[in-house]
Amino acid sequence: MTSTRFYPAAATYGKVLDHANRHDPYPLFAELAREPIQQLAEHAWLVTRHEDITALLRDPRLSAQNEADPSAPTGSDGKPFRGPFLMQDPPHHDTLRAQTMRQFVPRILGMRPQIEAMVARLLDAHAGKGPGEFDVVASLAYPLPVGVICELLGVPPEEEPVFHGFAGRLTRALDPVESLTEAEIADLEVARAQWRAYLTPMIQQRHANHGDDLISGLLVDGDPADRMNLIELATTLGMLLIAGHETTVNLVANGTLALLRNLDALDRLRADPDLAPAVVEEVLRYDPPVQQTGRRATAEIKIAGRLIPAGDEVELLLAAGNRDPLRFTEPDRFWPERPSNAHLAFGGGVHYCLGAALARIEGQVALTAIATRLRNPRLVLDPPPYRPNMLLRGPSELRVAYDDVTA
Ligand code: HEM
Repeated sequence: MTSTRFYPAAATYGKVLDHANRHDPYPLFAELAREPIQQLAEHAWLVTRHEDITALLRDPRLSAQNEADPSAPTGSDGKPFRGPFLMQDPPHHDTLRAQTMRQFVPRILGMRPQIEAMVARLLDAHAGKGPGEFDVVASLAYPLPVGVICELLGVPPEEEPVFHGFAGRLTRALDPVESLTEAEIADLEVARAQWRAYLTPMIQQRHANHGDDLISGLLVDGDPADRMNLIELATTLGMLLIAGHETTVNLVANGTLALLRNLDALDRLRADPDLAPAVVEEVLRYDPPVQQTGRRATAEIKIAGRLIPAGDEVELLLAAGNRDPLRFTEPDRFWPERPSNAHLAFGGGVHYCLGAALARIEGQVALTAIATRLRNPRLVLDPPPYRPNMLLRGPSELRVAYDDVTA
């Protein structure tokens, strides 16, 4: 985003990127949202309104993919492989996504009891010891999604630390490449190669000994002519790990923070755990784990009275759309019982989050446990420290004190 011209929105957006404002970018988003669409640089635009973001997420003239690298290995469509299907356009995106959906969705629908057992185990470690404190990120939010993905892939619990390590390293791929140092880019390449080397024997073993896990399912899904090849399979599994990890960590941490800042809502959830789905939807709207996504225009697009030329980048500020006063009543209020909550936290259109149902279960179970098992919970440090990342925004640590954790 380099340019010699001065674009006023770029200065405000610069403050959003500044880590000093990570704990509360919402006043900056409100400032940016005074105009529905703003130019950030010569070839970059920022869209902030719910209605426009919703339309653009569904617009086939916006592309999610980078230029093909002709030297890349070949995908199952016979063309150069372009990376995870999150970063591919139809039609090949749809083929890979359909295979993954067919294997992923039926497996996660029955997972609530296992997730409840995992959350219970993680809190049991602190139970019955009287007053104390723990870090919700390290003790609950972080281990939960890793445990869930290992369960889905049929990976034994002793492998969880390995997954933990890969999740942390591979997630850097979601950061804008300009924000990475050369050493970090090099480590990402090493991590990708190590991930493939780690998975290959596991995939071969499932070939020989077919189980009822997700890897085994993907190996035999659908028409052999369309089936993902080895590099697509390893990349899809890596994507499930990274797309499902830090996002869910943020959901649990942001949710705990919102509840402990709004103790009346915490009390209502404690009294009525059936409120959990509404609480999770409101956390997703109020403080979304993924704050922004980006696309590239493949044709000229007119939106909110401005003309975006073909080839330009378009940033969609999901977190601003979630606080759009034209769409939400009292947008800055944390209000689980709000009458309508069509938030943008899971995106929309062909790339709508594939793991939304799983994330919802994990969030509901974790936040209900926080509300019902911690006696007199309170924040030790408010605001908590935040990780550097702007896109996947969430606390790096969230210390909570309590009188007891009940069994
Ligand atoms: C609260 C947790 C989560 C949030 C807020 C979230 C958010 C999102 C968003 C905004 C997108 C669309 C990105 C775009 O259009 O550029 C997306 C896509 C995706 N998410 Fe999630 N996600 C969450 C959890 C998960 C989980 C648990 C998984 C799987 C284990 C997952 C897997 C995916 C995949 C595979 C895609 C790409 C879909 C496609 O391109 O067709 N996500 N997610």
